[in-house]
Amino acid sequence: MLSVIDFIHTSRDRYISELKHYLAIPSISALPEHAGDVRRCAEWTGEEMRRVGLENVRLVETPGNPIVYGEWLQAPGAPTILFYGHYDVQPVDPLDLWESPPFDATVRDGEIYARGAADDKGQVFMHFKAIEAHLRQAGRLPVNIKVLIEGEEEVGSKNLDNFVRANKALLASDVVVISDSAMFDHGVPSICYSLRGLAYFQIDLRGTKSDLHSGVFGGAVANPAMVLAQMLAQMKDKGGRIKIPGFYEDVRPLSEVERAAWRTLPFNEKKYRKDLGAPKLAGEKEFSVLERVWGRPTFEVNGILAGFTGDGAKTVIPAVAMAKVSMRLVPNQHPDKIAELFEAYVRKVAPKTVELKVTRMHGGKPWITEYDNPFVQAAGRAIEQGFGKTPVFCREGGSIPVVSTFQEELGVPAVLFGVGLPDENAHAPNERLDLSNFHNGVVASAILYEEIRKIG
Ligand code: BES
Ligand code: MN
Ligand code: MN
Repeated sequence: MLSVIDFIHTSRDRYISELKHYLAIPSISALPEHAGDVRRCAEWTGEEMRRVGLENVRLVETPGNPIVYGEWLQAPGAPTILFYGHYDVQPVDPLDLWESPPFDATVRDGEIYARGAADDKGQVFMHFKAIEAHLRQAGRLPVNIKVLIEGEEEVGSKNLDNFVRANKALLASDVVVISDSAMFDHGVPSICYSLRGLAYFQIDLRGTKSDLHSGVFGGAVANPAMVLAQMLAQMKDKGGRIKIPGFYEDVRPLSEVERAAWRTLPFNEKKYRKDLGAPKLAGEKEFSVLERVWGRPTFEVNGILAGFTGDGAKTVIPAVAMAKVSMRLVPNQHPDKIAELFEAYVRKVAPKTVELKVTRMHGGKPWITEYDNPFVQAAGRAIEQGFGKTPVFCREGGSIPVVSTFQEELGVPAVLFGVGLPDENAHAPNERLDLSNFHNGVVASAILYEEIRKIG
């Protein structure tokens, strides 16, 4: 193990120059014009997997973006890890807010800035380097490992569930390992034991066949922008509670034990508010901030489009209005059931003066695991050695749709140890990854494989 860790320490600069190549590929899954880049990124991922010594590396075609698979299975009798991550990234707009180009990775003050640095290429790359260190120094890994890197996570992992269901034997393993989340805070490494789910929709309203002069027709027809605002205003009450009938039916209440554990975490509400630049925090008063973002479902308007928004003034009644809305879900809510409840409620609150269309976009199930399982404990020991600090256990408010599918279809626990930071701007301009967390993460990953071997 010592020579493996030495190897990691002496490879620091090389890691960064290699990672820059990975981060240079604009693998934006949401934008069709980047389909070629997405494929190129899948190929780069596969080549890198071969370079670090994985075997049987291949691109698996799906109706969407390719899945990259590779393995090293020469540790008979040892446990098998299924490592999952994603090579696709979010769009980069607004581009003018980036301090350096999103696909020209730049190191400033110990952080590497680029789209995908934290979410998730940097964290995938960290495991590639841990695998490489073992194979180069010891000629073998302490465990068997199957690596599955997909290219559609940021658009809801549409094709991955089917792939997992159809390839249970290929993916058979003892534990799923994922690094696609953040540490609790600077200097506070963590293990995540629950993710929220997601249900995402587009609402389209049409009032008339064309835009209208607001003086000539105003008063006689509905204004879809106004109707949309009124409909959206009926989704939540003043206390932040979602008004969709039945919405909370399956919400698993937070236990007093869990709430008490969260109260011991080093969380400063005032600093949190200030860092966000929010005049005042919002949400359900009976729940703390961590409870609101980790353990409670939400309803959000992600975007609204209607009418005249240019400079100056235009007297017009828009013909159409559109909103993108989504709900974060918690155990044991199900996105399909929530979709039905939501659509029924939208129909109910839509007046007859407009035509309504509701489109289901992507979704994902929430996930939770018991964290007293031996794999989670092994991850705790690995992080402790890699970061020199005992990790805290926390939930996350974000979603990784496939995690609950792994749990249900493969019947194995998942270990989420992420080394991003909550303020590293995932999905936003100036995304970055702290290089000392990356580096400690390579060490912790290498140790994790060894700790998992010890479980036997
Ligand atoms: N890595 C994130 C999920 C995440 C973020 C987990 C923060 C834990 C903490 C992932 O890439 C992501 O952004 N997921 C999307 C899923 C959606 C597009 C289906 C999300 O959460 O919005
Ligand atoms: Mn991610
Ligand atoms: Mn993401």
